[in-house]
Amino acid sequence: MSTKRRIYICDSHKPKIHGGGCCSDKGSQGLLAEFSLAIHHHQLENQVELIPTTCLSQCKTGISVRIWPDQVVYGRVKPEDVSQIVEEHLLQHQPVKRLEIVPEPRFLGW
Ligand code: FES
Repeated sequence: MSTKRRIYICDSHKPKIHGGGCCSDKGSQGLLAEFSLAIHHHQLENQVELIPTTCLSQCKTGISVRIWPDQVVYGRVKPEDVSQIVEEHLLQHQPVKRLEIVPEPRFLGW
């Protein structure tokens, strides 16, 4: 059984469904690339899995990122936030409070 942490990054191309536009339009591909570089830089490939995913129902605050199994959802994540998430959350187990959001009730993904 894999014990890797999973980073789910919304890469949805949906039209405005929950308000706020889709994460793809906000640059999710660039965010995925930045996470990939940071994971490689810190040699975390055996500990962390990067997963592009469909809509996480948090479109108003996209780009949405969910860290599993930590039950943390980040909102309005930009490429410049990635190093802080990796260094503080993934390496030091300290979620980045300034980016944390309380998921809307629609979110049933835990
Ligand atoms: S499109 Fe990204 S959370 Fe909905």
